[in-house]
Amino acid sequence: MTGEVGLAPEVAQGFSLDGRVAVITGAGSGLGRETARLFALAGARVVLADIDEQGLAASAEALRTGSALTRKVDVSSREELGALADWALHEAGGLDVWVNGAGISYLHSLLESDPARAEHTVAVNMMGAYWGCVSAARVMGGRGGGAIINISSGGGSKPLPGIGIYGMTKAAVNSLTWTSAAEFGPMGIRVNAVAPGWIETPMSRDLFRDETGRISEERKEAVRREMAAKSPLGRLGAPSDIAFALLYLASDASRFVTGQVLAVNGGESM
Ligand SMILES: NC(=O)c1ccc[n+]([C@@H]2O[C@H](COP(=O)([O-])OP(=O)(O)OC[C@H]3O[C@@H](n4cnc5c(N)ncnc54)[C@H](O)[C@@H]3O)[C@@H](O)[C@H]2O)c1
Repeated sequence: MTGEVGLAPEVAQGFSLDGRVAVITGAGSGLGRETARLFALAGARVVLADIDEQGLAASAEALRTGSALTRKVDVSSREELGALADWALHEAGGLDVWVNGAGISYLHSLLESDPARAEHTVAVNMMGAYWGCVSAARVMGGRGGGAIINISSGGGSKPLPGIGIYGMTKAAVNSLTWTSAAEFGPMGIRVNAVAPGWIETPMSRDLFRDETGRISEERKEAVRREMAAKSPLGRLGAPSDIAFALLYLASDASRFVTGQVLAVNGGESM
């Protein structure tokens, strides 16, 4: 038999973001950039938010669609997140999906953490997700609902020496996901999280450094092999592995799913 077999309309519709407005924080790099690209391909009007203006411009360029809006936002500011939600509603004409993707990594032993950096990590990763959820829900609640997705981390649910304050902020993101799913459900808002394993992005580059802080090709390969060996699938994750999970949670395909933290890590945490 010949002929092209396309997706049946019912399936395509389930995963489509056609006509939806999706705000993505942390969209200036890594997982946020790839998510914005996939959401745009799924038909969403994407609003890219990040503290890094150059990163935002590069992400908008990577989309190759005319419909992306960008806005410089510091997610450690409650006011800026509230203004982002209102701005998206007015400029993009809606607010259906919100991804709390902005985050920073600060991996240090608990005893040796620098107080200012520890507090900044909490402000960005934990309070940024909290005010992101609240800002999105305030707008979505008045419009009949929506989908919020937090980017957590495998580090939020397992003890690892040196993961320090970062793991604590991601555990808080899991708790935030559960509580906001319970509180916002009656407003028609689903809240879920994705907990990625190790994915190669600018954030995870520090893992490649040796004791002197240098990154060499040999060390990169050794670390890649070591990380891949921890997964039953025998490979590392790519940003698109996370973006597809986010698309599922953003779309109607997951319409009866809320309050879940989905581990996307090749089975490494089993
Ligand atoms: N890469 C991984 O292995 C991995 C694993 C688990 C979880 N995560 C999580 O995924 C998310 C994305 O990480 P990534 O790997 O794409 O990292 P990344 O560094 O490539 O991207 C993070 C983005 O967040 C932005 N950001 C940082 N502080 C900000 C602030 N105050 N306001 C607004 N934007 C800010 C950065 O400018 C950057 O564009 C983070 O929440 C991270 O904790 C990543």
